[in-house]
Amino acid sequence: MKNVRVILFGVGAVGCLIAKSLLEKDGVEIVGAIDIAKDKVGRDLSEVLGISKKLGIQISADTDTLLSKAEADIAIHTTSSFLKDTFSQIASIMKHGVKVISTCEELTYPYYTEPKLAKELDTLAKKYKTTVLGTGINPGFLMDTLVITLTAVCQKIERIQVARVMNAATRRLPFQKKIGAGLTVEEFKRKIAEKQITGHVGLEQSIAMIADALAWKLDRIIVESVEPVISDRAVGSKDIGVKAGEVAGLRQKAKGIMKNREVILLDFQAYVGAEEEYDAITIEGIPNVKQKIQPCVHGDIGTVAMVVNAIPRVIKAPSGLVTMKDLLVPSAALEDITKYISD
Ligand SMILES: NC(=O)c1ccc[n+]([C@@H]2O[C@H](COP(=O)([O-])OP(=O)(O)OC[C@H]3O[C@@H](n4cnc5c(N)ncnc54)[C@H](OP(=O)(O)O)[C@@H]3O)[C@@H](O)[C@H]2O)c1
Repeated sequence: MKNVRVILFGVGAVGCLIAKSLLEKDGVEIVGAIDIAKDKVGRDLSEVLGISKKLGIQISADTDTLLSKAEADIAIHTTSSFLKDTFSQIASIMKHGVKVISTCEELTYPYYTEPKLAKELDTLAKKYKTTVLGTGINPGFLMDTLVITLTAVCQKIERIQVARVMNAATRRLPFQKKIGAGLTVEEFKRKIAEKQITGHVGLEQSIAMIADALAWKLDRIIVESVEPVISDRAVGSKDIGVKAGEVAGLRQKAKGIMKNREVILLDFQAYVGAEEEYDAITIEGIPNVKQKIQPCVHGDIGTVAMVVNAIPRVIKAPSGLVTMKDLLVPSAALEDITKYISD
């Protein structure tokens, strides 16, 4: 079977990590790269990745020209968190009959927040006989797919609670900025209010995915206000320093309400200097299920893995918009990628 031909759409922090992972894998080859950043367009991908071996892949801002020549099977799309921004980018890939895996958080489960765009994407994907999946570590796995999988052993479920606590010091700089690390409390509140920083995106999508998997008809999903976590000491990483009294990151909660009762609670905390890091899932039911991953899964490593491991599943998936709950049970694709595609 021939190699899977991949286009990178977005070569920012995550796109570069995915590129490096793909370069080490058998059965897959990068055949093009797209980005609009002025400091990237026209350069060889190797320079942006910071590797010495020239790859002969020039970063282009012209999606149509590149995709009409590249004969790509799949695009790895990593540009933005919001479907309103990414819709036209994803559509421009799909009209070339190329499949898409995207880290766009809202795409992970868009039926609740963006039902119209979700329907349009599904229609387009079917028209061009292609597939689109939104995935990543969170949303995409830790607070939804993994939770859904654990419910498989339950006969009854009263309530689900998921907590993720991570030390953002080890994460990529765009993530540290997104959670407001290093800002004063006033700057944090203003930037959140003006949507200059987004905080974590995906809690509503994760709750909607869990509820739909269980066929729970929620009355509503409540996303609570984003709270800054204020550092009580000087903490930092190689990229960012946080003084005592400054914002180290944030805490966000969201709830799924059914028949006036909280049935799902997601509690997300990411801040520089968090001492205890974990991913904890508690299912109150028959039986009770308690699972704790400690330390928490590293978000950037996990995202790269989720995306690369999804390639064979998306190649084999039917046309349309698919989500993690529609695909086969996820697992690592450690060997030559083509081994997971051929039957
Ligand atoms: N689901 C998950 O678990 C998960 C995990 C990690 C990341 N993510 C999401 O994945 C996305 C990428 O993250 P990142 O840290 O790599 O961000 P990033 O460093 O900002 O990279 C995004 C890249 O895409 C480029 N870009 C923006 N709009 C474009 C367009 N229309 N066409 C082509 N290129 C475009 C950007 O260029 P400019 O710099 O010029 O804008 C930048 O080079 C973010 O939305 C992030 O939140 C999700």
